[in-house]
Amino acid sequence: MEQYLTKGIKDLIEQFPEVEKILDEYGIGCGPCSVGICELKDIVDIHNLPAEQEQELMHKIAAVIYPGQDVQLPESKKKTPAATEKTKFSLPMQKLVDEHVLIKRWIALIPAVVANLDLATKEGHQLILDGIDLIRSYADRYHHAKEEDILFKYFDENSEILQVMYDDHTTGRGHVKAMLGALERKDKETLGQHLLAYRDLLTEHIKKEDEILFPWMDRNLSASQVDELYAKFNAVDQQMGFAPDKYEAFVQQLEIEFYRPPAKN
Ligand SMILES: [Fe+2]
Ligand SMILES: [Fe+2]
Repeated sequence: MEQYLTKGIKDLIEQFPEVEKILDEYGIGCGPCSVGICELKDIVDIHNLPAEQEQELMHKIAAVIYPGQDVQLPESKKKTPAATEKTKFSLPMQKLVDEHVLIKRWIALIPAVVANLDLATKEGHQLILDGIDLIRSYADRYHHAKEEDILFKYFDENSEILQVMYDDHTTGRGHVKAMLGALERKDKETLGQHLLAYRDLLTEHIKKEDEILFPWMDRNLSASQVDELYAKFNAVDQQMGFAPDKYEAFVQQLEIEFYRPPAKN
């Protein structure tokens, strides 16, 4: 079994397709993951299943790889209890999770924005510029920069999980570039496609961070690293002098506009 623990999950699934279904049963969606070079042992660690479920999962996978054989599994090295329903984050990680809220509120509005795209008027054009500004200034420069320039440096940047995160950030920047080009050409269809693709990308990306990456990082950071991280995040906030108020106001205005209940006759 040892040799399979260090095998890339995509290769393992290719060799034993049933493994994907087993992982799915435990809420581990490695099949659709964009890279898939994570090793089986890392996946089990990152997803932090309760010890019993971890053993159960490994037994099911062993039964697929070695049908009919009694396979010795390595002991679980779990030191901490698995995450309870509501994850308690450290202060710096909570800060990033909180920053996700405004991004999630904006991307939740994107389908309505796309359905009402109006590039013929100055207001319609400005709405898209403001939305792109939120993505570039708040989601990317302010938030993703904290992740890439500070948080990720505490971990192996070549690990698959971080490569997936970097790839998502890069793909997001590509969508923004395409949005700006489409806006200039007044190409509504392409603009709509990239806005919706950005929404899908970030929805999944934030879910991965909130539910898997950040809890795993918190489990692996020492108390002094957590303090250091928090101080660095606060220093960045001060240096940037960034006030997210105007982005909050932009999102709130759109929420009022799009979520307003229809007037009663
Ligand atoms: Fe991110
Ligand atoms: Fe994030």
